[in-house]
Amino acid sequence: MSAICRARLTGVGGYLPRQVITNAELAQKVDTSDEWIKTRTGIEQRHIASEDETTASMAALAAQRALEQAGVSSKEIDAVIVATSTPDKVFPAVAVQVQALLGMEKGFGFDVSAACSGFIFALATANSLIQSGSAKKILVIGSEVFSRLLDWNDRTTCVLFGDGAGAVLLESGAEDGQGVLSTHLHSDGRTGDLLYVDGGVGCAGTTQQLKMVGREVFRHAVVKLSQAVDEALESNHLTGEDVKWLVPHQANLRIIEGMAKKLSLPSDRVVVTVDRHANTSAASIPLALNEAVQDGRVQKNDLVLMEALGGGLTWGSALIRM
Ligand code: COA
Repeated sequence: MSAICRARLTGVGGYLPRQVITNAELAQKVDTSDEWIKTRTGIEQRHIASEDETTASMAALAAQRALEQAGVSSKEIDAVIVATSTPDKVFPAVAVQVQALLGMEKGFGFDVSAACSGFIFALATANSLIQSGSAKKILVIGSEVFSRLLDWNDRTTCVLFGDGAGAVLLESGAEDGQGVLSTHLHSDGRTGDLLYVDGGVGCAGTTQQLKMVGREVFRHAVVKLSQAVDEALESNHLTGEDVKWLVPHQANLRIIEGMAKKLSLPSDRVVVTVDRHANTSAASIPLALNEAVQDGRVQKNDLVLMEALGGGLTWGSALIRM
């Protein structure tokens, strides 16, 4: 029997809109304060897309940077998978728009909808396509313009999110012990009312704005992310001590610190961007990974643990040896 061909991560890139809105600026528009936002979430500012920036345009820029880092041409790419909850169009998929923006003439693209866990779901899908031999080089992208889903008069949600895109390139042929070691996906539709955006075309009379029962989502996040992390470690016969970097979904600093504590990881081995990016949903993990790779923190052979929870609820984890 031939050995399973794992996917390795060969490039990572990110894109953040130029416009930055600080907590103090938000406090001029809604009844909130820099202190409340910082204390409850760790967020200090967020990037907001301008009118000419779209989910597809940001995705393509992040992908371009991942390709440059890997030294791979877009012509060599077999597939593009975009995780997003904010597609520019009902169809074609953002991934197909990205193909055109990157000048791709072959391969295929599709989007994955799993809210803030979307990047983990897209990564798992890409890894499976590579393991099955269906594709050799896949761009996995998270790109979101949550600023266009928010009720900017609702202080309980509008302070939490930001826009941006992150991308990784996965290629077949990981050396022994390297690459995507495992992914673990979960969802439970019974908790759909805790965090959602209505307004899909299948249902009339809706607002198309994000609604969240923050405290309940927080409670689920602590429990479910712990389980997802345990699952990833146990299935690879590893412990928290083996993890070099935690690259978590960036929703709330208190949740991130809770996960680090559970793993006994010191704060300097946890990649945190929530202070500057806020919650960029499916883009948050690749944006955080990009930052830590570009500044030299994450190195070849490092064991990276990723985890995320989002609307659905959806949640999951991934372990990658870089
Ligand atoms: N500024 C000032 N006050 C605010 C506020 C804001 N932006 N948002 C809410 N408040 C108020 C509330 O009205 C409430 O006031 P009350 O006690 O007078 O009713 C008080 O602050 C506490 O609100 P609560 O919702 O209980 O706060 P919290 O400590 O749970 O923090 C979140 C709120 C959203 C930061 C937190 O619940 C959270 O991070 N949840 C998980 C979010 C998450 O992970 N989501 C995404 C998954 S992808």
